Amino acid sequence: MISRRRFLAASAAAVLYRPAWASTGTVLTAAPSRQQVAPEGYAETALWTFNGSMPGQSLRYRQGERLRIGVQNDLPQPTSVHWHGLRLPNAMDGVPGLTQEAIAPGDRFDYDFALPDAGTYWYHSHAQSVEQVERGLYGPLIVEEAEGAPDLDHDITLVLDDIRIDQDAQITADFDNRHDRSHAGRIGNLWIANGTMDPEFPVRQGQRLRLRLISAANARVFSLGLQGFEGIVVALDGMPLATPQAVTDRLTLAPAQRIDLLVDVIDETEALLLTFERDGGYVMAAFPVSGAAQARRGAPNPLPPNPEFPIDLAAARPATLLMEGGAMGGMGGAMFRGERRGMRELAMENVFWAFNGAVHQMGDYGHGDPLVEVAQGESVRIGLANDTAFPHAMHLHGMHFAEVLADASLGPLRDTILIQPNEVREIAFAAHNPGKWLFHCHMLSHHAAGMGTWINVV
Ligand code: C2O
Ligand code: CU
Repeated sequence: MISRRRFLAASAAAVLYRPAWASTGTVLTAAPSRQQVAPEGYAETALWTFNGSMPGQSLRYRQGERLRIGVQNDLPQPTSVHWHGLRLPNAMDGVPGLTQEAIAPGDRFDYDFALPDAGTYWYHSHAQSVEQVERGLYGPLIVEEAEGAPDLDHDITLVLDDIRIDQDAQITADFDNRHDRSHAGRIGNLWIANGTMDPEFPVRQGQRLRLRLISAANARVFSLGLQGFEGIVVALDGMPLATPQAVTDRLTLAPAQRIDLLVDVIDETEALLLTFERDGGYVMAAFPVSGAAQARRGAPNPLPPNPEFPIDLAAARPATLLMEGGAMGGMGGAMFRGERRGMRELAMENVFWAFNGAVHQMGDYGHGDPLVEVAQGESVRIGLANDTAFPHAMHLHGMHFAEVLADASLGPLRDTILIQPNEVREIAFAAHNPGKWLFHCHMLSHHAAGMGTWINVV
């Protein structure tokens, strides 16, 4: 395991994330490349990236603009791009086998859609994603508020990841690893932010930063803390909170989730973003403080709301999703490609999980029944029961949902919800967006091993 940031602080140069690029009409090329990810003295890591870096090119638009991007596939495998968290037309959603054909090596697919929502989103490969996202095929997608953006000194995007590398700093090719598939997923041994172990952002005391945290991790759930900052959470999964929440404790960031924070620098020397899973506190990003202090600003306003699609809980169509299987879990048998199979047989196919007794694998969605079929404009509520020994990060494409809380009120809008073992939760959403929408675990090995279904909005 490669050691902590402190160990290399002396050698590493400050890395600032590259600035925005032209926001209209462009090409993202998915291709092999190399990058110094491990500390100096180790080899460069061979990656697959969008436009030559991990994370891929930072895409930045203004709310109301259109995204027009041709994705050129120069990889040795088919690929596709999913624009995670965006409420876009179904044909642009990037799911091979459900919304488009995968883009063959040498081919190109043009994505073109409007951006009605402001917020912090990301894009990533949605083909062989256990492998392709791990190898680096992801990047941030920021949509700036058309108006009412907060007053800031710095707007910083941090894409967090953990990757699994070997002694030569190369990504291990054990993407079908049965242990990962049947346990917690592919957990890495190198923790990075914006593709580096050592990102630094110089700041001054009193400054206000917007930190846009995005998890591109395959399976790890980050537990994060702030030091030297005072912060509030202003948005989750891109969607503004009506009432911003002061950060008083750790922040949980599951795979694919985003948290937008407004933080004020309160320390004189250094502010930090930390994780609390290793060594009691590992620095994911450092903010060295220098120069004259600035006067602190007053409490910020909430971000302006995005277009709303009200949820009608009383009339919502009910459904349930029972999650079963995995190591130390049970799964009596499941429907797989139209046949009922026992658990041992499924394990031989490298399938370990089921939703309501059925297994879909990537590319099989066209053949299976949806979890729910609903008319556009209706609401849906789904009870989620995790009868497995592992947490799962359930992601709905194309629409945001709210959690139905114990008092029947609705929580904040999200696109990915973390469900712990033995938990029973409920979500609800307005089915405002027609099409075939994937609903799957974003622990990518779990998805590949059966944890996927879909919702048909007709
Ligand atoms: Cu972020 Cu189905 O994906
Ligand atoms: Cu899972």
